[in-house]
Amino acid sequence: MKKLVISTGGGDAPGLNAVIYAVVHSCYRRGWEVYGSRNGYGGFLDINDMVQLNIRDVEGIYSQGGTILGSTNKGNPFAKPVVNEAGEVHVMDISDKIIRNFNRMGFNCHIAIGGDGSLDIAHRFSQKGMPVIGVPKTIDNDLMATERTFGFDTAVATATEALDKLHSTAKSHNRVMVVEVMGRDSGWIALYSGISGGADAILIPEIPFDMEAVCEKISDNELYNKHYAIVVVAEGALTKDGHVFNKGMGELGREGVVLGGVGEWVANEIRKRTDKDTRSLVLGHLQRGGSPTTFDRLLGLRFGAAAVRMVEEEKFGHMVALLKGSMAPVPLDQVVGGRKKVPLDSDKILTARNIGICLGVDPDQLDFPE
Ligand code: F6P
Repeated sequence: MKKLVISTGGGDAPGLNAVIYAVVHSCYRRGWEVYGSRNGYGGFLDINDMVQLNIRDVEGIYSQGGTILGSTNKGNPFAKPVVNEAGEVHVMDISDKIIRNFNRMGFNCHIAIGGDGSLDIAHRFSQKGMPVIGVPKTIDNDLMATERTFGFDTAVATATEALDKLHSTAKSHNRVMVVEVMGRDSGWIALYSGISGGADAILIPEIPFDMEAVCEKISDNELYNKHYAIVVVAEGALTKDGHVFNKGMGELGREGVVLGGVGEWVANEIRKRTDKDTRSLVLGHLQRGGSPTTFDRLLGLRFGAAAVRMVEEEKFGHMVALLKGSMAPVPLDQVVGGRKKVPLDSDKILTARNIGICLGVDPDQLDFPE
């Protein structure tokens, strides 16, 4: 008999509930108890936020977006802002308290579902002795050591559908539509949706962009009697001078960065340089919402079931990953501390180039592998 606790941390992603469903069902079949900690580590600090999860609590949730447990990206127990009586904010490390409560509540394992931030926290708890299994989540698909994270496929499907819809209005008005998509400092969502959604140009953080190349592509369209264009820009795309568009208060590479604004900037530049009627839109959190696609549901269910098998095998300090199409444990220290970027020699980059999509640079100027 084991007693497990699950938490969901960081930005939500479609497929979180599928993982919870699979964990609860897999544990039920083994006669184990499962609890859910609300809003990240909330349940370790307030017993009212620690809820037992039974089969009937998870009925049908595998197809629902969001997370029944709630999530937060402000709950780092190793650096928690606390306001004292004088109203001053102090950053406190409350990780020992969480470990104490984890032990007091009699848990055998913590299944932490999260992206790089939440898995970094899980890794630190694992180093302090908590038995932890990680599950990789993020729409950005930027986690190391796994071929995929769940949530990404759904975000790409949403972005692609939006691009499909924009074609007709762009064409009717002979306009350039610039669409900013999420992804932080990786271009996975932009590249996958841009190729699938017929973009003329795709700007990703991995390739700093030159507006001249983008505008040349838009002007070239006219040669083929195409008087409109669709440009997809990843929120973390940067100019060839290295300018990143940060709306937040934090410095780049630290907390408090809020990426955004690059789409509008690119649209203004296109308008100025080509005289084309140009509009921009930000897809934003639409990409995080809605039901998971079949792929994400299945991946979430597979991750959840595999995580419970890993508890049985006592593979603590590991994350379940998708490797060569199968479920595999990878040590958490191989997951944290880096972000998976789009490789420039990927066949998707090559596909984009082969079908004439501009990647924000003159292809001759970059040493792209053929
Ligand atoms: O990491 C997922 C993500 O949606 C990023 O693509 C985006 O930059 C960020 O989270 C937005 O976070 P928030 O929910 O805090 O606005």
